[in-house]
Amino acid sequence: MVDLRSDTVTRPTAAMLSAMAGATVGDDVLGDDPTVQELEEFGAELMGKDAGLFLPSGTMSNNVAIAALTRPGDEALLDWDAHSLRHECGAPAVLSGVVLRQYRSDTGIPRVSEIESAIQSETLHAPGTRLILLENTHNASGGTVIPLAVHRRIFDVARDADVSVHLDGARLFNAAVAAETAVVEYARFADTVTFCLSKGLGCPVGSVLTGNAETIDRARRLRKRFGGGLRQAGFLAAAGLYALRHHRDRLVDDHRRARVLAEHLAELSGIQVDLKSVQTNMVYFETTGSAKVWVDALAREGVACLALGEHRIRMVTHLDISDVGIDHAIEATRKIDRLLSSTGASQ
Ligand SMILES: Cc1ncc(COP(=O)(O)O)c(C=O)c1O
Repeated sequence: MVDLRSDTVTRPTAAMLSAMAGATVGDDVLGDDPTVQELEEFGAELMGKDAGLFLPSGTMSNNVAIAALTRPGDEALLDWDAHSLRHECGAPAVLSGVVLRQYRSDTGIPRVSEIESAIQSETLHAPGTRLILLENTHNASGGTVIPLAVHRRIFDVARDADVSVHLDGARLFNAAVAAETAVVEYARFADTVTFCLSKGLGCPVGSVLTGNAETIDRARRLRKRFGGGLRQAGFLAAAGLYALRHHRDRLVDDHRRARVLAEHLAELSGIQVDLKSVQTNMVYFETTGSAKVWVDALAREGVACLALGEHRIRMVTHLDISDVGIDHAIEATRKIDRLLSSTGASQ
């Protein structure tokens, strides 16, 4: 199966497994797992922050950050299609008690003036805006990259209004590779940054949250409260350290393969792809006919992808997808396109 559903489906490589097996571990809740500490320090160093915190997932990392930077009743601004709004089961509202107000974006790029005018001070009536959430790359817009200049402008606006900025950088390394910009440049314009190890970097588990020492101390306590304290987590952290050392530069291959795939898909009669949105490792496209029919037909040809709407499909490249896999996916989509258009099912 060429599994293009998500970049989260990867299995650890033999080298990663051997790094995990050889890890020196302790009890991280008791504060003595040296490999977790090494990962947290390395993550913080990469982002130019004081401290890091290893967490089981991107969802927990986002929500620990939100809780650390707000008080119940505060307002947080986030994109209308942000992962934290659409795919975290309402966690910011439930776990932090924040009021979520949405701003619009163009292919994932926030409109700075809209954010600026949305910020409000606390009054007898209004919840005060305390936090702006950004997501780079922007998943639902197709893995698009927010330009550094937009981060800078938003951070300036936030600073002037005494509002914090959290960056959901689940795929920040993809953004950095695509923009040929160091991750630390993005991180400069956020108070907290989280990045996932379990996506393009190819680890089985894990995210790292980074920020200043005081915020990360608070986040460590919140992680415990949310049930995310892990014991011999060094085995997992070793995978993260391995990935940060060996799997960052290769993201460029995932991006090249996604582009090749998208350009072939764009030639098919039953598919529409906005090639401008294909900037990293994701290819979102519309099908003229039913997305489900396409997904089922592709599965029979050994290609897995996700239907994310009646006419919307996502394919994602990652560590376990080779050029051969892409060729197979291209052949399979061509075949299904011919089949569906000959039966009229692509209409
Ligand atoms: C942009 C973004 N943020 C956060 C997450 C959450 O990560 P996790 O699945 O590890 O909870 C995802 C997951 O796909 C994501 O795409």
